[in-house]
Amino acid sequence: MDLQVGDIGDGPPLVLLHAFPLSSAMWSRQVDALGNDYRIITPDQRGFGGSPLGDYEPSLDLVADDVAALLDDLGLDDVVLGGLSMGGYVAFALFRRAPRRFTGMVLADTKAQADTQEGREGRRKMIDLVREGGARAVADQMLPKLLGPTSHDSRPEVALAVRQMIETAPVSAIADASRAMMGRPDSIPDLAAARCPGLVIVGAEDVITPATDAAVMHRAIAGSRMVVLPGVGHLSSLEAPDAFSSALSGFLQSGM
Ligand code: MLT
Repeated sequence: MDLQVGDIGDGPPLVLLHAFPLSSAMWSRQVDALGNDYRIITPDQRGFGGSPLGDYEPSLDLVADDVAALLDDLGLDDVVLGGLSMGGYVAFALFRRAPRRFTGMVLADTKAQADTQEGREGRRKMIDLVREGGARAVADQMLPKLLGPTSHDSRPEVALAVRQMIETAPVSAIADASRAMMGRPDSIPDLAAARCPGLVIVGAEDVITPATDAAVMHRAIAGSRMVVLPGVGHLSSLEAPDAFSSALSGFLQSGM
């Protein structure tokens, strides 16, 4: 799978995996803030941004294999790897397959638990919604919850940027990623076995993967640190890019 990949900067490699149903464009502010000190690698996951969907049975394991193949191609044995929401689910899948490739793990606005019955039902409805109404209907449904009330009130440019990203996502990519997320297992036991440093970031106004989910991951990863960003919802890297980048950079600079 030939992924479209942003690869900017010199220095220790940091891979950032994007949320659903967005693209690597969501990391542009982190690339600007950290690109002088780190090599920042931002793939578009299958079907999103500039990456083809390919012919595959939807699964996050396969998406994780794409990332592993990308690291092989780049000659990188190990990296600090982070993901936001769906990007975090992909990070868990990669961690299960290749824990030694992680020199550090960053988990933002994501959760380690599998979908509940209700969550899976919601995914089926999402697949119907995108097939019937296209990506615009998905943007209409998701946007109110993706951003926190503070962003809805005071950061209209973020809502616009997120809407544009969602509306350019292909129907098939949204449907397949929904099916892939629906099948993911519980990752808490894997995190408990993690031996790499971990950073957990969450927006205080995140209602999709709230701070209680972040705390579960923080407790599971021995020695991890957790940062709660005030006035921020589920898309913390976009809603408070400076605070997010500064949490990331503090973690990376600490030698972890
Ligand atoms: C995301 O932001 O990637 C999604 O909200 C994740 C999910 O639907 O579980």
